[in-house]
Amino acid sequence: MNKIDDNRNFMKSNFKEMKNIVSDQKKNLPQPPLQKEFDKESEIIDLVPIEEIKIENDNLISNMKNRKSHRQFNDEPLTLSELSFLLWASQGVKSVFERNNKSYATFRIVPSAGSRHPYETYLLINNVAGLKKGLYRYLAIEHKLMFIDEIKNQKERIIDATLGQKFTGEAAVVFIWSCITYRGEWRYNIAAHKAMLLDAGHICQNLYLACESINAGTCAIAAYDQEKIDSIINVDGENEFSVYLSPVGKY
Ligand SMILES: Cc1cc2nc3c(=O)[nH]c(=O)nc-3n(C[C@H](O)[C@H](O)[C@H](O)COP(=O)(O)O)c2cc1C
Repeated sequence: MNKIDDNRNFMKSNFKEMKNIVSDQKKNLPQPPLQKEFDKESEIIDLVPIEEIKIENDNLISNMKNRKSHRQFNDEPLTLSELSFLLWASQGVKSVFERNNKSYATFRIVPSAGSRHPYETYLLINNVAGLKKGLYRYLAIEHKLMFIDEIKNQKERIIDATLGQKFTGEAAVVFIWSCITYRGEWRYNIAAHKAMLLDAGHICQNLYLACESINAGTCAIAAYDQEKIDSIINVDGENEFSVYLSPVGKY
């Protein structure tokens, strides 16, 4: 089979094959954490709770009608409140579901197959009021932000890693979603991967709509250099790797 046939088949549902497969969950193997672990000693920034955020445009129909991809951004910074809203809208946790006294699933603002929620959100922050530039990770369960590191030549590196798409270097913040695949594989084994990719679409669509409601813009990005983005967010590229990006800014 050639590569196109392989890829077409990957797009098809293979959940039927799960009948003959004993997943790690069925084998009673330990469940992976609902969120990537983090060092409690690292620099943690409080985000604004959703209840305290005033949204400028809260008309869903208008936001859906106005949604489009933006590839030009101005120098206006995002506020921490706006960033908090975008993170909540794309990956916010509504509740953590417990089973047998263990955290079993998160219910979030977006859907996810089996509520496995395999994505982590990294932010390459360039222009957010009160935050230094650099790499951050969203702690969705806590609704906080963790500073990871400064990125030398941040602007040049993100443009290069997105294959020369210059607007990624002008954005106030670039959202980078990485997938920790075992979160889905633990339950769905070979059927996990298509579903995990579908999950990413919901995340980015909510980001688009949330951007509309704060007069910001975004543009989904699938055309990027896998190794270079994985190196910027410092993930191993096997158990965790980037899947989707979306730069955000005012325009
Ligand atoms: C999965 C996906 C990947 C995309 N990748 C890119 C990209 O790498 N670069 C880019 O400029 N636009 C990218 N786009 C944006 C599309 O080009 C855009 O959605 C399309 O032209 C329709 O325009 P609209 O979003 O304004 O309706 C992507 C969109 C999607 C959904």
